[in-house]
Amino acid sequence: MNQNMTDTAEQEALIPVQEPQRQYYFMERAKEYLEKMSRAAGRRLTFCVTTFGCQMNARDSEKLAGILERIGYTEEPEEEKADFVIYNTCTVRENANQRVYGRLGQLGRIKKKNPHMMIALCGCMMQEPEVVEKLKKSYRFVDIIFGTHNIYKFAELLATRMESGHTVIDIWKDTDKIVEDLPSERKYPFKSGVNIMFGCNNFCSYCIVPYVRGRERSRDPRAIIREIERLVSDGVVEVMLLGQNVNSYGKTLEEPMTFAELLREIEKIDGLERIRFMTSHPKDLSDELIEVMASSRKICRHLHLPVQSGSTRILEKMNRRYTKEKYLELVERIKRAMPDISLTTDIIVGFPGETEEDFQDTLDVVRKVQYDSAFTFIYSKRTGTPAAVMEEQVPSEIVKDRFDRLLNEVQEISARMCARHQGTVQTALVESMNDHDDTLVTGRLGSNLLVHFPGDASMIGKFCKVRLGECRGFYFIGETEDDG
Ligand code: SAH
Ligand code: SF4
Ligand code: F3S
Repeated sequence: MNQNMTDTAEQEALIPVQEPQRQYYFMERAKEYLEKMSRAAGRRLTFCVTTFGCQMNARDSEKLAGILERIGYTEEPEEEKADFVIYNTCTVRENANQRVYGRLGQLGRIKKKNPHMMIALCGCMMQEPEVVEKLKKSYRFVDIIFGTHNIYKFAELLATRMESGHTVIDIWKDTDKIVEDLPSERKYPFKSGVNIMFGCNNFCSYCIVPYVRGRERSRDPRAIIREIERLVSDGVVEVMLLGQNVNSYGKTLEEPMTFAELLREIEKIDGLERIRFMTSHPKDLSDELIEVMASSRKICRHLHLPVQSGSTRILEKMNRRYTKEKYLELVERIKRAMPDISLTTDIIVGFPGETEEDFQDTLDVVRKVQYDSAFTFIYSKRTGTPAAVMEEQVPSEIVKDRFDRLLNEVQEISARMCARHQGTVQTALVESMNDHDDTLVTGRLGSNLLVHFPGDASMIGKFCKVRLGECRGFYFIGETEDDG
C-alpha cells in the first residue's frame, strides 16, 4: 500500500514492516511535510476531527487527534476555520449519512477558499461501497478516504497524500488485527473510553454494525490493563470500557476470559475510581457479572441494557435471542442484587411487521422496568441487512404516532425515576463548567445523571459530595455537602 509514493528502493527498505513502528515512522515523514506546508502558509496549520455516531467512534477520533498532534497540527475546535477536517462517520441510521453529505457540501465550498485545506473521511459509512462510489463521483475534493479496519494506518495514508498530492482511498473488508500503542489525545483529562473489543458477531437483523465493523475481536487483557494504568498515571479517574457487546468479551482470546473476570482485574488498579462500560447485550449478561457489579466499589451502578422491542415475536425477527419474559426476569435479578441500579435502554419503533399489539408489549416493558432514560429510534432500513428486505415495512405515519407515544411514556418515567434521588447526597465527578451559568459546574453521578451546582474551574476532574436538590427532568440542581 505504498503505490502513491515515489520512494526509491533504498528508502523503501527503511520503512519498518512491524506495527506500530511503521506508523511512528510515517508520523515523522508527515511531520516534515507539514513543516514545509506551514512555512508556505506562514502559520501553524490546524485540524478538526468531527465525530458522528457512538462512543467507539469518539474514541477512534481521539486516536486520530493524537496522531495529528504528534505530527504537529494544532487543534481548532471550529470546523470552518481548520486546515484539515476529518469526518469520522456513522451509518447506523440513514439520517446519520444525510448529515454527513450535507455538511460535506458546505466544507467543499470552504475548501475552495483555503489552498492549505485537506479533507479526510473515515469511519463506518466508508465501509459501504456505494458511499465510496458516490464520494468518488460527486465529492472529488475529498483528499483521504479510509475505513474502520485500517484506522491505525492513518499516519501512513496522510503521509502518502501529502507526498503524492493524489487522493488516497484505502478501505479494507475486514481485519483480524489489533494494533496497540498508538498515540491518542483525550478530550477530557480525567476520564477516558477504553476499547476492550472491536466488531460484532450478533447480526441483529436491522443492524449494519457487524458489516461495517467486522468480526468480534477482544483485546488482550494485559494490553487493556496496561492502557488503563497509563491513563491513571496521567490523571484519569474514570474509564468507560467500550465494545458492541461487552458481555461476550474474551470468548475468542487464546486464553478465554469472561467480562466479569476482566472487571475484577480492572478494579484492582490503584487510583482508578470509577468504571463504566457499554454496551451490554441482554442475552450474554451473566450472573457472574451481576455479582461482580454488586460487590464492586468502583463499578458505577448504571447498566445500559438495550431491549430494542418488548415483543417476543419482534425480538425473534430482530435476532436478539431473548424473549420479553427473559429480559424482564434478567432485570428482576439485576434489581434484586442492586436495588439502587440505574437502568437505561435503546428502543426501536417500527421494525418491519410491528403491530399495535407488539408496540403495546414495548410500552409494557418500559412501564415494568422503569428506565432512568431510554434512547428511542425510528427503525431505519439499512441496505444489506436481513430486515431491509422483510415484508410489511410499517407506514411512516403509524411509526411516528407510536414513536411519540413511546417518547411521552419514557419521559414521564424518567422524570419520576430522576426525582427519587431528590434530597440524597451523592458523589459527582465534576466534568465542566456549566454551559449557561459560570457560577455553576456540571458533575456526573454514578447513575450517569447530571447535577449542576455552585463551583469553579478548579473543581473540574475532582469528586464532590453533592446534595441533590430540585430535579428538572434529566438533571438536578445541587449543593456541595462538604469539601468532598
Ligand atoms: N451494540 C449495541 C448497539 C449499537 S447501535 C447493542 O446491541 O445494544 C446503537 C443503537 O442503535 C441500537 O441499540 C439500536 O437501538 C439502534 N439501531 C441500530 N440499528 C438501527 C436501525 N437500523 N434503525 C434504527 N435504530 C437502529
Ligand atoms: Fe448491532 Fe446487534 Fe451488534 Fe448491537 S449487538 S452492534 S445492535 S448487531
Ligand atoms: Fe455508528 Fe459505527 Fe458506532 S455505525 S453507532 S459509529 S459502530
